[in-house]
Amino acid sequence: MTLFDMKGKVAVITGSTRGIGRAIAERMAEHGAKVVISSRKADVCEQVATEINASHGEGTAVAIAANISSKEDLQSLVDESNRSFGKIDVLVCNAASNPHYGPLATISDDQFRKILDNNIVANNWLISMVIPQMIERKDGSIIIVSSVGGLKGSTILGAYAISKAADMQLARNLACEYGQHNIRVNCIAPGLIKTDFAKALWDNPDNLKARTARSPLLRIGIPDEIAGAAVLMGSKAGNFMTGQTIVIDGGATIS
Ligand SMILES: NC(=O)c1ccc[n+]([C@@H]2O[C@H](COP(=O)([O-])OP(=O)(O)OC[C@H]3O[C@@H](n4cnc5c(N)ncnc54)[C@H](OP(=O)(O)O)[C@@H]3O)[C@@H](O)[C@H]2O)c1
Repeated sequence: MTLFDMKGKVAVITGSTRGIGRAIAERMAEHGAKVVISSRKADVCEQVATEINASHGEGTAVAIAANISSKEDLQSLVDESNRSFGKIDVLVCNAASNPHYGPLATISDDQFRKILDNNIVANNWLISMVIPQMIERKDGSIIIVSSVGGLKGSTILGAYAISKAADMQLARNLACEYGQHNIRVNCIAPGLIKTDFAKALWDNPDNLKARTARSPLLRIGIPDEIAGAAVLMGSKAGNFMTGQTIVIDGGATIS
C-alpha cells in the first residue's frame, strides 16, 4: 500500500472519453481504482472502457453514458455505477461546456445559462446524488475540474470564467458542509491544455506563441499532466486536503 494507492476505490469521472477526464481515468486505473467512463456518446464510452480493461485488467472500467445537462442521466450514472461496483468513493466532475467565445455583450441568454447550468448547477446535482453514501461510509473525495480562467479576468471567456470561479467556491462551500463526514471537496485548475475543448486557444501558432511567451515553462500542457493531482486528491495522499484549488498551468498565472 503506497500513499497514492487507489486499490479498492471506485471513481466516477464525467467527460472521461478524451482529454483531461480520460487521462484522470487512465491514471486512477493504473493506481488500482475501478473507474466509470462517461460522456454523451455510449459507443465511445464502451470503446474507452474496453481499452482501459485491456491495459489494466478485465473489470477495471465500465462505460455509462450521461449528458451532464440531464438530471435523469446523472441519476442513472450514479445508480448504474453503484450497480456495477457497489459504491462510489471518488467523484470527478470534469465535463463542462463553453458554447461562446467573445465579449460578454455578445453572449446569448441561452449560452450564458447553459454554461452556468452545465458547469455549476450540474456539478451540484451530481455531487448531491453521491454524497449520501459517502456520509454513510464517512469517507469520500470529490474533485471538480475548474480552470485558471476562474482566477483571472477574461475578454473572451467571460461566462465560462464566471462558472469556473464558482466551481472553486462550490468546493469551499461543500468542503465546509461535509467535512464533518470526512468528505473532501477540491478543485483542479488547469491552465491551457492541448485538448479538443481548448483548440481555439492553441491551434493557431500566433495565438499559441502569445499564450506561452511569458509562461515560465514556455509551453501549454497535455492532459496527463493534470492526472497526478486527481490521483493525489483521490488517494490517501490527499486525506487532509479540502476546499482547495490546485493550479497546474506551467506557471502561466504567476508570471
Ligand atoms: N483544455 C484546457 O485547456 C482546459 C483548461 C482548463 C480547464 N479545462 C477543463 O477541463 C475539463 C475537461 O476539458 P478537456 O479540455 O479535457 O475537454 P475535451 O478533451 O474536449 O473532453 C471533454 C469530455 O467531456 C465530454 N463531454 C462534453 N460535453 C459533455 C456533456 N454535456 N455531458 C457529458 N460529457 C460531456 C466529452 O465527450 P462527448 O463530447 O462525447 O460527450 C469528452 O469526454 C473541463 O471542465 C474544462 O473546462 C480545460
